[in-house]
Amino acid sequence: MKKLVLTGAAGRLGSYLREPLSQMCDRLVSTDWTEDIGKLYPGETYVKADLGDLEAMEAVLDGAEMVVHFGAIGDEAAWDKILHSNIIGAYNVWEAAARKGLRRVVYASSIHAVGMYPKTQRIDTEVPHRPDTYYGLAKCFAEDLGSLYWDKKGIESVHLRILSAAQVNNPRALGSWLSYDDLIHLVQQAITTPITGFSVIY
Ligand SMILES: NC(=O)c1ccc[n+]([C@@H]2O[C@H](COP(=O)([O-])OP(=O)(O)OC[C@H]3O[C@@H](n4cnc5c(N)ncnc54)[C@H](O)[C@@H]3O)[C@@H](O)[C@H]2O)c1
Repeated sequence: MKKLVLTGAAGRLGSYLREPLSQMCDRLVSTDWTEDIGKLYPGETYVKADLGDLEAMEAVLDGAEMVVHFGAIGDEAAWDKILHSNIIGAYNVWEAAARKGLRRVVYASSIHAVGMYPKTQRIDTEVPHRPDTYYGLAKCFAEDLGSLYWDKKGIESVHLRILSAAQVNNPRALGSWLSYDDLIHLVQQAITTPITGFSVIY
């Protein structure tokens, strides 16, 4: 791949993804709205940009084949913050991807999109959304955006419903744990799989 874009590059998960993603393409463009992200890997450049700015997203995505979209407010927050970064930000990424002819969006969704199902109920990827927070509601919106842009514009998307990619410090956290190595592997597979259409994956 010639050019790949990573949003949320300054974040916890983005920081783990930068090096392996830089090895999968000629040019990795890492983006976030922080001032800088420190030392860059070979082939990597950093662009400071706000997900809420459609023109900036178009400029960042120009010439890319895929975008790994991990930029967002990473937990429940006030509505206006979620609206700006997670909802308008997701729209801008998909719309910029469509305008710039990208093939695929790999998206960090969350279990919070279906967080209100009772723990005793076994659920698959086909159940209706049942968000537990504004944060989860924004994940539902982005999954539906992916569905719309696949059906109407042919842009593929893989929605990774991550449960918890974090330090395990209690027994409950072990049950929902995704190790950083497995996260990297999952994102690599979401990029290299030849055809995905619109996919939701736990
Ligand atoms: N860590 C987990 O266990 C987990 C679980 C489920 C889903 N996710 C999702 O994975 C993604 C990354 O999570 P994380 O834990 O690394 O979170 P994080 O908060 O560490 O990283 C998110 C990054 O997005 C950036 N960002 C926020 N708003 C922005 C904006 N308007 N413009 C540009 N950049 C902006 C932040 O500066 C930050 O660096 C998020 O979408 C999160 O919802 C994470």
